[in-house]
Amino acid sequence: MNDSPAVLSASLTAASVPDAGVVRGPAAAAGGKLAAILALDDFQRACRGSLPRMIYQYVAGGVETGSAMRNGQASYEDYGFTPRALIDTSRRHARTALFGQTYDAPFAIGPLGGAAFVAYRADIALARAARSSNIPMILSASSLIRLEDVIAANPNAWFQAYLAGDFTRIDRMLDRVEAAGYRNLVVTVDTPILGNREHNIRSGFSMPIRLTPKVMVQSATHPRWLLGVVGRTFLRHGSPHFENTEAERGPPMMSRALRNTVARDQLSWRHIEHIRKRWRGPLVIKGLISPRDTILARESGADGIILSNHGGRQLDHAMAPLRVLPEVAAHKGAMKVIVDGGIRRGTDVLKALALGADFTLLGRPFLFAASYAGQAGVERAVAILTEEIRRDMALLGVNTVTELDTSFVCDARPGVVVAPTGASGRA
Ligand code: FNR
Repeated sequence: MNDSPAVLSASLTAASVPDAGVVRGPAAAAGGKLAAILALDDFQRACRGSLPRMIYQYVAGGVETGSAMRNGQASYEDYGFTPRALIDTSRRHARTALFGQTYDAPFAIGPLGGAAFVAYRADIALARAARSSNIPMILSASSLIRLEDVIAANPNAWFQAYLAGDFTRIDRMLDRVEAAGYRNLVVTVDTPILGNREHNIRSGFSMPIRLTPKVMVQSATHPRWLLGVVGRTFLRHGSPHFENTEAERGPPMMSRALRNTVARDQLSWRHIEHIRKRWRGPLVIKGLISPRDTILARESGADGIILSNHGGRQLDHAMAPLRVLPEVAAHKGAMKVIVDGGIRRGTDVLKALALGADFTLLGRPFLFAASYAGQAGVERAVAILTEEIRRDMALLGVNTVTELDTSFVCDARPGVVVAPTGASGRA
């Protein structure tokens, strides 16, 4: 837990308010408990106490040793800035263009499966906050709210598909996504099967959820989550289902029926080429790390890639995206490169952009923010990160993020000397 009394008391307040996770209007953001949140990590610290351990771990955890997740975050420490001085930055702004749209900040809300089991109607809260903040929000195939309902809340939402290597199922799914009005399609390719999430087993979390004594004790001791998320969802919307894995509605989250993950391990570049021919809008491949694959993505006609190790939730020890970014950026051509994994500060976003990314993406912080205070919490998270970026731009000496390049960053690892030009080399 955070030892800051302000955040502690904020989390206690949250724990005692049964509907604290409901979707609210921005006016609620003025509420006292959000004032205690000064940085994205504060949301996670606050949620540590207010969510049952199994739910907190489901969001916060990685796989096996946690190396891929830790290194993803730690890689941002490997770079330092070489800011420029005496530059008039009074016209600075964080607006960034991507796929024909100008967003107010260079980061997106990533796809978060199962989000509505963490925070009440989380996908709607995330979609609305993205809309009011003018940043992208990507709805997950593993979400529990119909994709048609999410695009009604935010007509600019993107959709992320988990696809099987089956042309007929792919076509039917794309028809549904297109008919709903989505323009930007993300296909996640790092999940042929699920990674080894031991922490779910240890904390008692499973899909379907089994009502073991461990699960019952955790639920009963966290009434804010039990009543405000689970109870409220069942009362108002019935039993949550996996709504968006296939063209038709999937099984209930709590049933023993298999989710349609069948044949995901057969998905290949042939299918990507097929999708490219069918999908008219921007196509983005999520979950690439190998520079070789990023070249294949470009050759397959993808408009963009999300360089990602799934936040350390799939293959442990998968390289930190930031560390492969310079090589990937060198071969990206006209393709846009979006980076995720461990981004928590404006400085992280700016480092990724300086190393060749066109945009960035965050997952966990926005879901914790939704759990903490619904839409208002997510809006607060977006505002904090945007403000950090704008402040850091002045301190770096740039007016727009497109001015950033590798001359603004240096390898800050011990043993690396910085040459007077700003280029760096190993001692
Ligand atoms: C995810 N992520 C994810 N990615 C994806 O393509 N489809 C999905 O359904 C999900 N689901 C999901 C659930 C939860 C609870 C988390 C935390 C993450 C991965 C996500 O989109 C993103 O790649 C990472 O979260 C980025 O790392 P950070 O920002 O969380 O460190």
